[in-house]
Amino acid sequence: MSNAEKMENMENMVVVDHLVKHFDEVKAVDDISFNIKKGEIFGLLGPNGAGKTTAVKLMLGLLEANQGNITILGLDPEKNEVELKTRIGYVSEEPLIYKSLTPKELFNFIASIRRLDGEKVTGKLAQYLESLDAIEYYERLISTLSRGNKQKIQIIAAILHDPDLLIMDEPLAGLDAKSVKVVKEILELHIERGGSVLFSTHIMEIAEDICDRIGIINKGKIVAMGTFEELRLVAKDMDGVMDLEDVFLKLTDQDESVKDIISKLRSTMNSHRGS
Ligand SMILES: Nc1ncnc2c1ncn2[C@@H]1O[C@H](COP(=O)(O)OP(=O)(O)O)[C@@H](O)[C@H]1O
Ligand SMILES: [Mg+2]
Repeated sequence: MSNAEKMENMENMVVVDHLVKHFDEVKAVDDISFNIKKGEIFGLLGPNGAGKTTAVKLMLGLLEANQGNITILGLDPEKNEVELKTRIGYVSEEPLIYKSLTPKELFNFIASIRRLDGEKVTGKLAQYLESLDAIEYYERLISTLSRGNKQKIQIIAAILHDPDLLIMDEPLAGLDAKSVKVVKEILELHIERGGSVLFSTHIMEIAEDICDRIGIINKGKIVAMGTFEELRLVAKDMDGVMDLEDVFLKLTDQDESVKDIISKLRSTMNSHRGS
């Protein structure tokens, strides 16, 4: 390896190299490669079923890959799951699983298993709870909270130990506009401290707003990768399509099917009108 390559690898918090995961004949992740650098928010943007959650679970060592390699913070997630847990914060796609606990009990539990130092963590936790308007349900059962409020608790739980890498699977689902702003600020602070983020979403505006660089994923493959400016250039190169939304739909083979669905929907609804 040359010195330049070594430098490049040191900067990479995440290296995903020709990763493949099948579920029987479904190729959920079909030969994807990408890197995430220190201080970078990398977005995986793709429609439902594209393979985002599978890619995330492979990165966390929760699933075993069929082929390919993953290096996270210099380690192999399948072999170093325990060490990586202390350095990664994970926001899963499903709302919190600790339903029979209150947020307060959950945070006490997390602080004890992560051996987080009392006072410093208490101060940070109080600030996060206040910023996300979460104090009022701090002692209510998680099972009784709304989806968005569960999500806020999950986000706080993922960042409380100041991980180097945040892996977030559709983290803004169910959040109101104010909380989205606060979470964006939290990510900004995380990046300023030299952290990195993998951010999965199916919503283009969110990826554009939050991510420094994105990989557009469809049917298990990354079909385009770059900054939004770079993807805009791709848009300009495409015949007749200029809008990024159109490019996204086109790259993910959805443009024709959307037109078709809309036209069928209109004709069915119109024919039933007044009957
Ligand atoms: N445990 C599983 N068993 C079988 N198929 C799965 C499993 N998990 C995901 N898949 C399939 O893999 C594909 C990618 O799914 P997923 O990674 O959840 O996509 P996304 O998160 O982008 O919506 C889908 O076709 C999905 O049905
Ligand atoms: Mg998913």
